[in-house]
Amino acid sequence: MNKFYITTPLYYVNSKPHIGHSYTEIACDTVSRFMRQAGRDVFFMTGTDEHGEKIEKAALEAGLKPGEEKKFVDSIVPHFKELWKRLDIGYDYFIRTTDACHIESVQAVLAQLNVAGKIYKKVYQGWFCAPCETFWSGAQSPGGICPDCKRPLEKLDETNYFLKISEYQAWLVDYIKSHPDFIKPDFRKNEVLGFLNEPLLDLCISRPKTRMSWGIEIPFDKDYVTYVWFDALLNYISGIGYPHDMKRFKKYWPAEFHVIGKDILRHHAVYWPIILHAIGVELPKTIFAHGWWVVKGEKMSKSKGNIVDPVDIINRYGVDPYRYFLLREVGFGLDGTFSEEAFIYRYNADLANDLGNLLSRTLTMAEKYFEGEIPETSNQKPVTRLGEELRSKGKTLGIELEKTIPQFDFAGALSKTWEVIDLANKYIEDSRPWVLAKENKTDELASIIDDLLQTLRMVSAAISPFMPDTAAKISSQLNGKLTKTTPLFPRI
Ligand code: ME8
Repeated sequence: MNKFYITTPLYYVNSKPHIGHSYTEIACDTVSRFMRQAGRDVFFMTGTDEHGEKIEKAALEAGLKPGEEKKFVDSIVPHFKELWKRLDIGYDYFIRTTDACHIESVQAVLAQLNVAGKIYKKVYQGWFCAPCETFWSGAQSPGGICPDCKRPLEKLDETNYFLKISEYQAWLVDYIKSHPDFIKPDFRKNEVLGFLNEPLLDLCISRPKTRMSWGIEIPFDKDYVTYVWFDALLNYISGIGYPHDMKRFKKYWPAEFHVIGKDILRHHAVYWPIILHAIGVELPKTIFAHGWWVVKGEKMSKSKGNIVDPVDIINRYGVDPYRYFLLREVGFGLDGTFSEEAFIYRYNADLANDLGNLLSRTLTMAEKYFEGEIPETSNQKPVTRLGEELRSKGKTLGIELEKTIPQFDFAGALSKTWEVIDLANKYIEDSRPWVLAKENKTDELASIIDDLLQTLRMVSAAISPFMPDTAAKISSQLNGKLTKTTPLFPRI
């Protein structure tokens, strides 16, 4: 199977994107680039989640009138698109849940489920968390507090439409247990199974327009709009043609990966598979939930005023160092702390010193000892044992990348790449080309420079999914006249 379909969550457009959103985006972009290089037919989809109470509220707070929500979301979406462009995110399709195609698709699925008898109407009396747009039973929410966000719940007494998801509980548990790759990392799978130990409540999939009208109208009852999560999850299939272009849909579905943050695991690993199963569609292959970036031990939030703005970081330090830092600093799947000190430390140590120096020392020597020409070698034995080691590590780097990147082990892939860079720097110290030059040992000198150039070519290919611009710069400096140019990463 050659196709590779990967998705990010659709971000809420209640405010501008922050580093958390950019993290998921950069991770998916990196995997997509790697898969494209490997010859896969990649379809990488991202987009925005534009309906529901959160957005309606944000629109009102921004001074718009009820009914003007579309104007509001149209003003926020460009912030996402512009940031993705600046961050070199090469997505194939940007879906908005206000797109006509998506709306039609959601309505078609609702109609299908209704005809199949999977939807019923009832009076709901219970607890509701408005910020999370989630219903909770009394047993799930002791003390009237939302189990997810810990804010106080509202008591609700309202007639709504429900999807019969409880009848699929046993099937889902069985599916998760028999498909070890369905939820990753494994500890997240255990969390989901833990949640499924308790009885599953049927999912409320509507909101009466009298309370909230910014949503997709329920096709069989114009007094209601669709619950925002039901609407948003369907993007993963509507965006590739379900049900209006089934040929295209069949080409890409099932998705290889839905990449999400751990905050929305339940929606993706419980509700989404059941919705798909209820309409007779196969499940995605893997849902990968990554961890959170926190600042000084706290999750970023507008109210705490601790949001890190990606634009501010990239304006000061560049796009590639930012992409590199996010994927190198913390294992994907775990939580990480963002601090500017840690960022600067990695920038100086890994990028300016290790990689930047290797390139500039190699180019300087090529210029000085071989007048900027690629030296001719008779492929002789490496000059020292470290040279031997460098060649053999270089040979296996490709295999290491294949083992790590498709598993979202970015830190692993980069650390293997930096082992090669470190070794190349050590090889320079160890073989002392400047002494060989004094002694006119041109063959040995040529062999060293050649090994270093080969290594840099390999490194540039290895880092290109992570830092596409840097990789292109390195490779253009290695082709043609070799001369020392301005440093790739000036020290901070
Ligand atoms: O949940 N650290 O949208 P959202 C890491 N619209 N990742 C973070 C993060 C952080 N601090 N903050 C956000 C929604 N993210 C729904 C999704 S999908 C059909 C609908 C990333 O704008 C992470 O990927 O709240 C998280 O899952 C997503 O942004 C949530 O974005």
